[in-house]
Amino acid sequence: MPSSAGHPHVVICKWSEPLVRCMLDLTPHVFLILDHFDTTFMNPDRELLTQVERVYEIKDFDSLEEMAAVATDLVVRGVAVDHIVSFTEFSQFGAGYLGVLLGLADDPLWHVSFRDKRLMKERVRRAGVPTADWVTLADPSRADDVAAVRDRLAFPIVVKPVAGSGTIGAVRVDHPDELRSVLEGIAPDPHLKSHQLTAEEFVAGSELHVDALWHDGRPLYLLISTYYRPRLALLDPDAAPGPDGTPEDGSYLITEDEAPELYRRVTKLHHEVNSALGITHGATHLELFERPDGELVFSEIASRMAGGWIGAVISEYLGYEIHTAIARATVTGRIPEPRPSKPCLGALHLRPPRAGRIAAIPTVEDMLAVDGVLRAQRLRGVGDRVERTNPSEWCAFVVLGADSREEYEALARRVAGELRTEVEPLG
Ligand SMILES: Nc1ncnc2c1ncn2[C@@H]1O[C@H](COP(=O)(O)OP(=O)(O)OP(=O)(O)O)[C@@H](O)[C@H]1O
Ligand SMILES: [Mg+2]
Repeated sequence: MPSSAGHPHVVICKWSEPLVRCMLDLTPHVFLILDHFDTTFMNPDRELLTQVERVYEIKDFDSLEEMAAVATDLVVRGVAVDHIVSFTEFSQFGAGYLGVLLGLADDPLWHVSFRDKRLMKERVRRAGVPTADWVTLADPSRADDVAAVRDRLAFPIVVKPVAGSGTIGAVRVDHPDELRSVLEGIAPDPHLKSHQLTAEEFVAGSELHVDALWHDGRPLYLLISTYYRPRLALLDPDAAPGPDGTPEDGSYLITEDEAPELYRRVTKLHHEVNSALGITHGATHLELFERPDGELVFSEIASRMAGGWIGAVISEYLGYEIHTAIARATVTGRIPEPRPSKPCLGALHLRPPRAGRIAAIPTVEDMLAVDGVLRAQRLRGVGDRVERTNPSEWCAFVVLGADSREEYEALARRVAGELRTEVEPLG
């Protein structure tokens, strides 16, 4: 079953109905790998599953045994896989390993460099891109590992899992004296298999995210957004919506017309990061800091589309679903011309102002009824707990659109005031 020029063989990792549908419009040779979470909670469309060439149901993308079995089955069937599309953090190691087994990657550490923050920063730093200084903290119970952090880094620092996500388990340590007690208090996130940590010097400034789709080293789109607050600042117990009503959590797109120089500098930095890490194709989500003096400092990159609300904002920018863009780029190398639904776009996460049990949360209908709200998604319901121990306990997202920056800012303040997740104290 060799790859035919017009109809490539594509493996999709994890369930996304729009992605599978778009891909099937472009090629009949779609292979789908679903994990236990997908089959148990995502209710994949059974009719659609009959249309793909084969579905592999596995327990976990991190299982070497299961991924090796998928690779072997594809090989013995003579399937020449052209592309592997993985769009969630949970499938990234497995998808990368599958690529290595199928001979799609020259460098066996290639996919690791998008997940392990140490390898990523080492490669990016070697290419001359500014990053925070860092030290590996493989075993925080070893005195020599802890001493290396204390001796080699200037505090404040950030300690975090080497391949975490969602800012879960990231902590800021202000003074060397506090390091030991902070490390002793860290309870590893149960979703993480590796408990190794990395320590980085804290970079002050604002935090941007850059979302792009690449083909042959060229961006089919490249969009810069700014978070209302750096993700880690959301863990500050005093962090709450500002008195002027500026939202606490969310991000908005900066247009190229508004900031041509920023676009030029970020695009240059992104190309340098791409050369360092060997990125030529596919979706990326890059995060960087803009220091108070204007210097851009690389933070991290993922070789997948962004999570949270960001995919929905990009879909409004494109004027069609981001999954269509990813499928088209994979198979044809092109995407339909973007037609933004509004000149100024962004989104808010309706995060409750304190930890507690949700007493009230707007329905999708409530959110869509508000003028200026283009899309809405509710991820929790009344009675659910929100701990506020990490910024990624998603409650509800609203995507907003306006005709000017001023109008957008007023809209965001109004929506943050009108649509709220209310909590009552826990137990
Ligand atoms: N060196 C640093 N200096 C300042 N802030 C940092 C630093 N490292 C991490 N942070 C903050 O912590 C957040 C989480 O860190 P990072 O992005 O490295 O990990 P993550 O958990 O993979 O993130 P994500 O939320 O993007 O999945 C960042 O978004 C940033 O706000
Ligand atoms: Mg991050």
